[in-house]
Amino acid sequence: MPQKILGIDIGGSSIKAAIVDTDQKTVCGDSLQVKTPVGAHPDAISQSLKDIQNKFSWVNQEIGCTFPGVVQNGVIRTAANVDKAWLGIDAAAFFSDLTSCPVSVINDADAAGIAEIHWGDVRELLTPETTCLLLTFGTGIGSALFRGKNLHPNTELGHLMVNGREAESFASARARTQENLTWPNWIARVNTVLSEIERLLWPEIFILGGAVSKEFENFKPYLKTRVPVYPAHFQNNAGIIGAALSALAKAKF
Ligand code: BGC
Repeated sequence: MPQKILGIDIGGSSIKAAIVDTDQKTVCGDSLQVKTPVGAHPDAISQSLKDIQNKFSWVNQEIGCTFPGVVQNGVIRTAANVDKAWLGIDAAAFFSDLTSCPVSVINDADAAGIAEIHWGDVRELLTPETTCLLLTFGTGIGSALFRGKNLHPNTELGHLMVNGREAESFASARARTQENLTWPNWIARVNTVLSEIERLLWPEIFILGGAVSKEFENFKPYLKTRVPVYPAHFQNNAGIIGAALSALAKAKF
């Protein structure tokens, strides 16, 4: 079992990477963040990945990678916030050829959820029957649904229609920045999304991830949910860590 895996989290706005120590359950050394190339075409992202691989001098070792869309057996099925040229590409094979390393690829929110459920604080609250939903707020809204530690992959709740609009179009972190929303105004939108999800899925725990999780204390007072909400333990590193963890144990997820 490899002890160190390079985790790469490809998002609509940025690509983050770090070496994950899977024994210590943490990122080791500095993490790296670069802007997602405009348009996020496969060729441009490939170049970013090669640069990252070189910066970490990563040769012939395992890489765990995320993608901001539906990923089934390494194949990209949706591309809401990246170039549509990704559709149908076997990203796991594509990145493996590119880097000459074994690469596994999963959805970004699923990766963040795997990190939180297995290694985050919330793991102590879970029974095998607990339904837990992680939502990531970034360029889009990602979701990862768990029953105990079992992931139901590719849930895509950011595209849930709420009051006639796609949830991520009005409640993502990007919408907050673009519309210059105050915390109460943004959280009012998030509350609408969370309450619709509560009505439909009856989760018992919410975890909020993405870069905004660092600001949890600022917006926590405005959250109005039936069930408890926790910030992502690994904050914005959850995707990197979960990508590595899933590469380590992909057969199990
Ligand atoms: C995509 C999801 C992704 C989320 C966060 C959504 O637009 O459809 O697959 O998890 O953005 O990146």
